[in-house]
This record gives sequence, C-alpha cells and structure tokens, in this order.
Amino acid sequence: MTQSRKILVTSALPYANGELHLGHIMEQIQTDIWVRFQKLRGHDCLYVCADDAHGTAITLKAEELGISPEAHIQAMQEAHETVSKGFLIEHDNFHSTHSVENRELAEMIYRRLDGNGHIARREIIQAFDPEKQLFLADRYIKGSCPKCKAPDQYGDNCEACGATYSPMELIDPVSALSGATPVPKESEHFFFRLPEFATFLKDWTRAGHLQPEVANKVAEWLDSDLQEWDISRDAPYFGFEIPDQPGKFFYVWLDAPIGYIASLKNLLDRTGGDWLDYWKRDSDAEVYHFIGKDIVNFHALFWPAMLHSADLRTPTKICVHGFVTVNGKKMSKSRGTFINGQTYLAHLNPEYLRYYFAAKLTGSVDDLDLNLDDFIQRVNSDLVGKVVNIASRTAKFINKAGGTLATEVAEPALWQRFVDANESIAQLYEAREFSKAMREIMALADAANEYIAAKEPWKMAKQAGQEAEVQAVCTQGINCFRALITWLKPVVPELARKAEAFLGETLSWQQAPSFRGGENINAFEPLMVRVEKDKVDAMIEASKEEAPTPASGPLADEPIAEEIDFNSFAKVDLRVVRIVKAEHVEGADKLLRLTLDLGGETRNVFAGIKSAYQPEDLEGKLTVMVANLAPRKMKFGVSEGMVLAAGPGGKDIHILEPHSGAQPGQRVM
Ligand code: MSP
Ligand code: ZN
Repeated sequence: MTQSRKILVTSALPYANGELHLGHIMEQIQTDIWVRFQKLRGHDCLYVCADDAHGTAITLKAEELGISPEAHIQAMQEAHETVSKGFLIEHDNFHSTHSVENRELAEMIYRRLDGNGHIARREIIQAFDPEKQLFLADRYIKGSCPKCKAPDQYGDNCEACGATYSPMELIDPVSALSGATPVPKESEHFFFRLPEFATFLKDWTRAGHLQPEVANKVAEWLDSDLQEWDISRDAPYFGFEIPDQPGKFFYVWLDAPIGYIASLKNLLDRTGGDWLDYWKRDSDAEVYHFIGKDIVNFHALFWPAMLHSADLRTPTKICVHGFVTVNGKKMSKSRGTFINGQTYLAHLNPEYLRYYFAAKLTGSVDDLDLNLDDFIQRVNSDLVGKVVNIASRTAKFINKAGGTLATEVAEPALWQRFVDANESIAQLYEAREFSKAMREIMALADAANEYIAAKEPWKMAKQAGQEAEVQAVCTQGINCFRALITWLKPVVPELARKAEAFLGETLSWQQAPSFRGGENINAFEPLMVRVEKDKVDAMIEASKEEAPTPASGPLADEPIAEEIDFNSFAKVDLRVVRIVKAEHVEGADKLLRLTLDLGGETRNVFAGIKSAYQPEDLEGKLTVMVANLAPRKMKFGVSEGMVLAAGPGGKDIHILEPHSGAQPGQRVM
C-alpha cells in the first residue's frame, strides 16, 4: 500500500445565474468519481466547490426576477446544492464567492500582486449606457456589422460574415439592456501584468500540470503577445470593491478562482485546519482543478501567474474535459436535449448517468456524447445484465443453503485474474481513464458470468448430492461480485451501498481483493432496475416543455402587467408569517379566517382559499403576507392584510411557502 496522500480537488464554480444542466453535472460526476476513488484508496482527499456569484449577468438576472442579487444567489446556491446531491455528488464543502472568506482572500492576494508591482492602472475608453448608467460589456451591445452590414450583431463579432471588431465600430450600436445609444466614456482600469510572467508560464505549462493537447493550445497563446489582463470593473457592479479604490470592483474572474481557496478555508475554519497547509509554496498537498475546455486560459495562465506573484503554490494539475453533446449535437432547447439536472432526476436514476459518463470519460479534452439509445443499452447490458446479474443468479443458492459461503476458492485461475487486475484498474482511475477502467471491469464481469454459465449451478441445485459444488461455484460468483462492486463503488455508490447491505460488509479498496469464505451473507435484495425508454422519452418531452413557448401557459392567459419602478415595488412590505389558527367563516363559501403571527404581532386576515385547504392543515404553516395593505372592511369582519397564493383556482390554489428556516416577521424581497 502506498503512503496516504493529502489531496484537494475542485470542480469549476457554476455561475449563479442559471440552473445546472447535464454539462455541469458531467463535470461534477467526473470529479466526484475521482474523489471517491482517492478516498476509497485511503487518501486524505477534500472536494470543495462553490457558486460563482459575481458579475453583471447576476445583477441582470436578479433584476429580471425582481429580486435582490443576494436573494437570487442564495436561491441558486440552494438549487445547485440540491441537484448536486441528487446526483450523489459528495462535496466536502459547497460555498459561495460572495462570502467573507473570499473577500478577505481576494483582498489579500490583490494587495500582494499590487505590492509586487504587478498591477498597472490606466485610462481606457469603453461603451457606456447613458440610460442604465453603466459600462457595457461587448455582449451587451448590438448593431449592424461594419463589414457586411448584417443587422443585429453582437459587439465583438459578426455571425453573418465572421468579422471581428470592437463594439464602437458597429453601425448604429444600441445597448441590449436599454436600447439607448452607447457613448464612449473614459475610466481608469486596473490590469494584472500578465506579460511579466511569460517565462514562468512557459516553464509551468510544460511541467506536467496540463494534458499535452492543452499545453499545446496554451503554447500558441504564449507565443503570440500576452496582453495585460483587465481585472477591474466600474460601479455599479455586483462583486467586491477593490481595497482603497471606491467605485472600482474586482472583475468576477479575479475572485472566482480565489473562491476555491475560500471554500476550503470556510471548511477548515469549521474542522480545525489551516488553508495555508494546502496553499503555501512548499505545501506537501496536491491540488487538482477539474474544468471544461472553455475556461482553460483563466486556469492555465492567469491563475498560476496570480498564485506565483502572491507567493502561493500553483495547482498540481488542471484536468480539462470536453463538452457534453446529446445525440451527437450541441444541447438544444427546442430538441429537448438541453437537459437540466433536476429534469433528469425527476425521471431517471442518477447512477445510470454516472455509469454512462464513466463508461465514456477519458483523460482527454474530447467532447463526450450522450447518445440516448446507447445510454439505455449500455446501462442495461453492463450494470444490470452483467454486474447485478452475477449476484442475483448466485446469491439465492447461498441463501437457500443457510447463507454460508464456502471456505475454498473453487476456480483459483479466475480469482487470480481479478487479483491481478486490481492495480491496473486503480491506475486507470488515477489517470482519469474511466472508460478504460469500466471496460476492464466489464471484461472481468463477463469472465465471471461465463464461469457461472458453464457451471450451471441452477441445474446442479436440482440434483441430490451437489450441494457443496453449488455452494463453491456461487461463493466464487459472490467473490467476483465483491471485487467488481469495490471497483465500481466510486461510480455507483448507492448500488454499492445496497450490495454491501446484503453482503454484510463494507468494501474497502486499500489493497487487492481478498477472498471471503466461511461467513454468512444476508438475503439478496434487487439492486437496480433496467432503464426504461419511456422514462427517457418523458425526460426529453419535459425538457422541451421547459423551453420558453410564449404561445401558451399562464403568461399568455394573463400577460405581465404594466412595468413599475423599483420604488413602487419596495413599498409593498412582504413578510413571513406563521398561520397560528385557521377556521371556517359562517356563511362564507370561499373564505377562511386566518390568525397570523407576524413575529410579535397578530393579524386577522380573510383568505379565499377554502376550496383548496382544510383549516387544520394550514395551522402551523409558514406563508407570506402583504403586511402594509390598508385594512379592509369585509362582510365578515376587518381583514388586516393579505396572504399570497398562486394557482388557477378550485383545489389548485397553493399558498406561498418560504423555506423552512424562515422566521415570522422576516421581510421577503
Ligand atoms: N463560473 C465559471 C467558472 C469559474 S471557476 C473559478 C464558469 N461557470 S459555468 O457555469 O459556465 O461553467 C461551469 C463548468 O461547467 C465549466 O467547467 C464549464 O466548462 C462546464 N460546462 C458548461 N457547459 C458544459 C457542457 N455542455 N459540457 C461540459 N461541461 C460544460 O465557467
Ligand atoms: Zn458581418
């Protein structure tokens, strides 16, 4: 057994402006499999992640939803964590870049860069939206292409003719946010002096930290002229203000990777460790970043250069993967192949996808296709038909014979094949060659099945005097199954947990598989059902439905009301309340009388929800009320506010429920 290693692993921090889709999920599954493998091998391994919560896109999304950026990123973080858990992703910590730890670390690192003379300042001219009063990133400017005159092109390149240009060259440019004509405006920006690190980066990127094809790509960038990197944005910006520079904020990509360290620090502050043990220059820990191919420049250039200047260690490896395609094409909303994590989970077992991705993942940056027919076929034939099958066709004979395993290995040559494969399977996991590992494991599952098929224990079991032979063959089968499950445990942890329950043991992978004999196993329980095509089809249909179709649904029935400004909205005081009492009102066929606890104050409110709720079911529930609505005199008494509910009516009305940790009296924004 090799020595225990100390390892820190991260996945890229998902943007807090959208839901997790199968692309994000693939990355987290790849990372999680690798982490579970390291833990199973006895290493001290931590997997941290966080939401990437800063930047203009977040502000715009929150504005669109009519909530504060803080409320938006908190809701997104909860949603992301729920979906990750659904896919059995075991983060040791999931934090946010909008956190005290990240602010502290970003300021510290920035001060070190500045102190080393690696921050430059100069005035630049940018497009400014005079209406929204903010500088516009290229993708928020539209206009006609200066070369081919195609209308409605984005600020950096033309989709019609492929020309690239600067946004101010567009003909009749407009702000995509307000429609106003942008004006050029000067402002001072802060730059990270990347060119100073050219030599360092040329060495670093060739020192085994990158896959060869990634190193080659990065070499092209390093051979062309490196530019200084603009790390500041002007207010208003949702992010961290640069120390001592009022009105200047860190660009989201400056503090995003620092979020890796912040998440670790947040974890270790609770468990009693020191983040510097991992990040000091002479740390004996290993650091691995799992990322997609679209964000290599940030991780293989800016990040190591920043860390180097800040006198911190650089990553051991940047592990880059390709993009997920579905049925050979880019994920598409209209085809229903832009699949959100939660949509998948509503229809299918997460371990199907974990196995399918494992069966296709390599250590390269190639794209990875989720072919849905192949998915069904692969999972059913490998997991159900090969692996689970070994247990289901042998365990019952052991169970029938009192549950005791034979003491001797029946077929030593077959068992030796399993023992010999152990280290090569481990090496394939280590190298992220999961697809090769799955192939080796399935080849051994085939060998075990062939052995059992040749021995036909089900025939022997019908003849008198063959009991010992049946027990020996099935014991061999169970032991092969134990080894296979041990190796598959990082990929299908829940299946492994069920298998362990019937085997009556916890499988560890600290050494080669050892033969278990003479002991009892428990009754076999079904471990996994086959993937059904109906469910896959239903998932695709549901994904199509999620794509915006303005022609039907509540929006078409009741169009959005006239726009109001923020101040008008802020006048509505929404509060969390607890329903302490709910009762029928004599003579009223729609109303219930609610007694609401506003956290120190009690309100009497009549609500038209009688068709949907029994009074006793409401008592104790939290809901949301308009607390500053003028009291209204009604036929049955005075109503002192209003509770919020949604639905078409009848039985289908649902009162709004805040999350369970909310407190009566809290303001809802
Ligand atoms: N917030 C940045 C990362 C900051 S890391 C300090 C970001 N976020 S993202 O939400 O756009 O992407 C998160 C990860 O998902 C990235 O590694 C990205 O490559 C990956 N993927 C996004 N779409 C993907 C596919 N279709 N397929 C595979 N991975 C993809 O970038
Ligand atoms: Zn053009």
